[in-house]
Amino acid sequence: MKNTLIAPSVLAADFANLQRDIEMINQSEADWFHIDIMDGVFVPNISFGMPVLDAINKHAKKIIDVHLMIVDPDRYISTFKKLGANVLTVHYEACTHLHRTLQAIKAEGMKAGVAINPHTNINLLEDVIQDIDLVCIMSVNPGFGGQSFIENTYNKVKKLKQLIAEKNAPTLIEIDGGVTSKNAKQLVDAGADVLVAGSFVFNSENPIETIKNLKEITK
Ligand code: DX5
Ligand code: ZN
Repeated sequence: MKNTLIAPSVLAADFANLQRDIEMINQSEADWFHIDIMDGVFVPNISFGMPVLDAINKHAKKIIDVHLMIVDPDRYISTFKKLGANVLTVHYEACTHLHRTLQAIKAEGMKAGVAINPHTNINLLEDVIQDIDLVCIMSVNPGFGGQSFIENTYNKVKKLKQLIAEKNAPTLIEIDGGVTSKNAKQLVDAGADVLVAGSFVFNSENPIETIKNLKEITK
């Protein structure tokens, strides 16, 4: 039996009732809070920034998984540590010196994650996989919640799983974008360890039940 980690994406929460939605995640069977930070440069959208994460951190009682969709993320590594990030994920496509960035994240005492866009090949991680705590495979083009899942993701998960096994790396595989109860089981069977779900959770009638159900079907 597998313990797949479920990480609701706060991007899909009701920002006028943020505390209520944070408490909902606290009380649910969810494992992590997934926090999407977008700068309007790396992705064509701006989400929210430091004051909002600070507010979330005051109420969140679970692991905070921060997904940075920003250029030059090195500038803010220590800031995100102070704001409560436990896992800090940067984009492969946004880092000129990825190895150095990963070491800087770890030096702050956080888990280091690398997200890859749908067009980015798994092979590009080969020489750095030992240093990555989590690879976030984007199953949509980053920038917006509520997009449809890209089917090629399953192949990428299998390929990454194989690379991790070959290198005996400690890396977790996270899937982000368009995750629903329809694709969750197949993703886990392919090798996924963490599933991010935004609109599927928050747009459902009973988010607590939806999270419980995602846990159940991915065991
Ligand atoms: C997309 C974000 C995702 C997004 C997922 O750029 O990284 O985390 O919130 O939302 P859904 O689950 O609605 O695709
Ligand atoms: Zn994300």
